[in-house]
Amino acid sequence: MHVGSWITALLPLGAAAGTFKRQSNTSEYQLQKGPLDTDWTEQVGTSPWPEYPRPQLARSEWKNLNGVWQYQNATGSELETPPFGKDLSKSVLVPFCLESALSGIMGTRTIYSWYRTHFDVDSEWIDSEKRVLLNFGAVDWQTSVFVNGKFAGNHTGGYFHFAFDVTDLVNTNGTNELVVWTYDPTNEAGKMIPLGKQRLNPDHINYTPCSGIWQTVWLESTGREYITQLDIDAKANGELNITVHSASGGQGNSSTGSSSTGSFEITIHSQGTEGVALQETGSTNAPTLFKVDSPKVWSPDSPNLYNVTVKLGSDTVYSYTGFRTVSKGVVNGLPRPLLNGEFEFLFGPLDQGYWPDGLHSPPSYEAMVSDLKAVKEVGFNMVRKHIKVEPGLFYQACDQLGLMVVQDMPAMPTYSSPPAEPCAPGPVVEPQQQQEFERELALMIEQLKSYPSIITWVIYNEGWGQNREDRATDERLTALVHSLDPTRLIDTVSGWYDHGAGDFHDNHHYAFPQCGTPFWGGLSGPYDPSRIGFQGEFGGIGQNVSIEHLWNVKQAIDQINQTYELADSEDAWNWRIHATFMDLLRQVEAFSCSGAVYTQTTDVEGEVNGLLTYDRRINRMDKEQWRSDIGDLYQAARERGTVPDGDGDTASPKEKRHFPKRVAPVSDEFGMRSM
Ligand SMILES: *[C@@H]1O[C@H](CO)[C@@H](O)[C@H](O)[C@H]1NC(C)=O
Ligand SMILES: *[C@@H]1O[C@H](CO)[C@@H](O)[C@H](O)[C@H]1NC(C)=O
Ligand SMILES: *[C@@H]1O[C@H](CO)[C@@H](O)[C@H](O)[C@H]1NC(C)=O
Ligand SMILES: *[C@@H]1O[C@H](CO)[C@@H](O)[C@H](O)[C@H]1NC(C)=O
Ligand SMILES: *[C@@H]1O[C@H](CO)[C@@H](O)[C@H](O)[C@H]1NC(C)=O
Ligand SMILES: *[C@@H]1O[C@H](CO)[C@@H](O)[C@H](O)[C@H]1NC(C)=O
Ligand SMILES: *[C@@H]1O[C@H](CO)[C@@H](O)[C@H](O)[C@H]1NC(C)=O
Ligand SMILES: *[C@@H]1O[C@H](CO)[C@@H](O)[C@H](O)[C@H]1NC(C)=O
Ligand SMILES: *[C@@H]1O[C@H](CO)[C@@H](O)[C@H](O)[C@H]1NC(C)=O
Repeated sequence: MHVGSWITALLPLGAAAGTFKRQSNTSEYQLQKGPLDTDWTEQVGTSPWPEYPRPQLARSEWKNLNGVWQYQNATGSELETPPFGKDLSKSVLVPFCLESALSGIMGTRTIYSWYRTHFDVDSEWIDSEKRVLLNFGAVDWQTSVFVNGKFAGNHTGGYFHFAFDVTDLVNTNGTNELVVWTYDPTNEAGKMIPLGKQRLNPDHINYTPCSGIWQTVWLESTGREYITQLDIDAKANGELNITVHSASGGQGNSSTGSSSTGSFEITIHSQGTEGVALQETGSTNAPTLFKVDSPKVWSPDSPNLYNVTVKLGSDTVYSYTGFRTVSKGVVNGLPRPLLNGEFEFLFGPLDQGYWPDGLHSPPSYEAMVSDLKAVKEVGFNMVRKHIKVEPGLFYQACDQLGLMVVQDMPAMPTYSSPPAEPCAPGPVVEPQQQQEFERELALMIEQLKSYPSIITWVIYNEGWGQNREDRATDERLTALVHSLDPTRLIDTVSGWYDHGAGDFHDNHHYAFPQCGTPFWGGLSGPYDPSRIGFQGEFGGIGQNVSIEHLWNVKQAIDQINQTYELADSEDAWNWRIHATFMDLLRQVEAFSCSGAVYTQTTDVEGEVNGLLTYDRRINRMDKEQWRSDIGDLYQAARERGTVPDGDGDTASPKEKRHFPKRVAPVSDEFGMRSM
């Protein structure tokens, strides 16, 4: 068996890891031919995602279980009779959504599923001073896990990692059988779960669903008392607030993280320079404050990170942090988001994170990061991660590249699919569904809150899953998010039904923006000058491409004509977006616009409005033009000032409106552009 070390964590594992020997009753794994592939599809092989998956809580002793497993479509009643000791009919490549070509299944209506594989445990891992954890990066939506015929645990929530202490269930004298049950109703009639853009019947803006295991599955060896989570908040002034959560072997499971107080050792050093920045001890399961003198702060321009090593008894974990402070303040009379005390104009694309070959699962780490590099390359400083939660390595890449993240909560569906009309109110959210939404919202914040790049939480996208008449729920959820994480800003409602809660007044307006402007259209109402003016979505300009770059599904192609605007050529597309950027620039100069989100990073299924096509083979951007336009936007924002007024940290309601000195006709600006 292969035990990854910290170094080999970066290298592909041997084909043996997690690979299930084909049995006569199980059909062989076969990559399917999907409606579209990428340059990475064929490179995936049968040992996908070999990287250690949880960069903020990494251990050296681990074993990747990704690879070919057995799979069988099931019915709801079968959970009572798990297929212990029995072959399942098909082979699946873990960790790819059952609907994806890479999974080898490319199924539809994979509501109930069985997975089965075998694994070995190194005899060195079994010792009275050690525990064995079985980890899942994410499984959509409910999971029950059995090891050697015994129940190991269950979990609900399609976007979150979880772990079970399986020490008492595994043996080292032979192989272990792992059986996993998953249930994912997506938006079946009567169901309402956090699911983002997944729909059983995709329509233009909603996509093919993702069911089952979609992130890495792995085993690891820990000390008897072990670290379950590190909550780290590191501020620009060097203050480091850390809670080391721990659990004790034999007591409950690793998602509980509660145990008696133990003593940990922490070592921090800059990734850029030699020498230790801090070496201290503290007590587990309570916040501890440390101070690092004059840290090199994290920002999009200089994404300085610090390695953090925490030792608890015989358990050692590797993590990292970045020192930065997110706040809001009044700058030249306007409410602004501040990074490290200065106004930072937030500009980036709407980032859906969908892949034609893997759907929710990027085909590889390299593929995933290539999207972020394309965004960073033209000068964006942010991405809005749209109603999806990504693998930990995505956020680490944002931390490393210097891309701030506006993180959305995956929405519940608002309307039955396909919608009669986009804004029609959907089915009522039942109290238990609302309760589950709130539980998963809290889980998202608990799991992501130590990534320095995340600067803002978004609770609702437009009216999706939101009670449109109910101001009290918006206010209560804003207070809940603030209590879970007081260190970031909150965009309670991105677009549509604004009830006054949160730090932003966020308008969606296609194609041209209306960002903190004294004119408006749509459902968000007039700009509220007491909050930060933000354009949560604009643009969406499309450009159709030839069939080999399209998601080759009739429904998707038939709906391309629902794009807000289509440009005839790449040149026309660039010209048109330049026009929207210059309009935004005027608004930055004249009004209260603190940031904007351009729709979107890539084409997705029937949407052809990406900076990149869905297969990532065409980058539509005239990079020089984009870099120049984006640079001009930051410059315009800088000219409105960066340093907050006085020490006030709340927005003044008496905003002075600055009207432009000149309003040039739009055509002046564009005459020089080539077509
Ligand atoms: C294989 O299939 C046969 C016929 O369906 C069945 O009798 C047998 O139990 C199966 N073997 C395993 C290991 O599942
Ligand atoms: C799974 O079973 C359901 C219900 O019988 C069926 O609708 C669906 O097509 C099946 N999916 C696969 C991938 O076999
Ligand atoms: C693990 O702990 C969580 C949180 O307390 C709980 O919801 C879950 O049921 C526990 N699982 C097991 C297998 O004990
Ligand atoms: C999870 O497991 C517990 C037993 O630990 C059981 O009571 C509960 O019904 C299970 N939940 C689901 C959704 O399977
Ligand atoms: C392996 O060890 C377990 C106890 O850990 C025992 O129950 C089982 O019989 C052993 N199996 C073999 C094949 O020796
Ligand atoms: C440290 O973080 C915890 C949450 O993890 C919070 O409750 C506490 O107030 C923070 N302490 C300081 C001084 O910021
Ligand atoms: C920081 O940690 C990473 C991952 O553990 C390691 O590759 C790197 O060498 C470390 N850098 C320093 C300066 O220790
Ligand atoms: C988009 O292009 C495809 C072929 O690549 C074509 O079938 C489809 O009709 C076009 N749609 C629109 C709205 O231009
Ligand atoms: C879009 O194209 C489809 C399929 O060709 C057609 O049925 C529909 O009427 C068109 N819609 C619009 C708004 O043009």
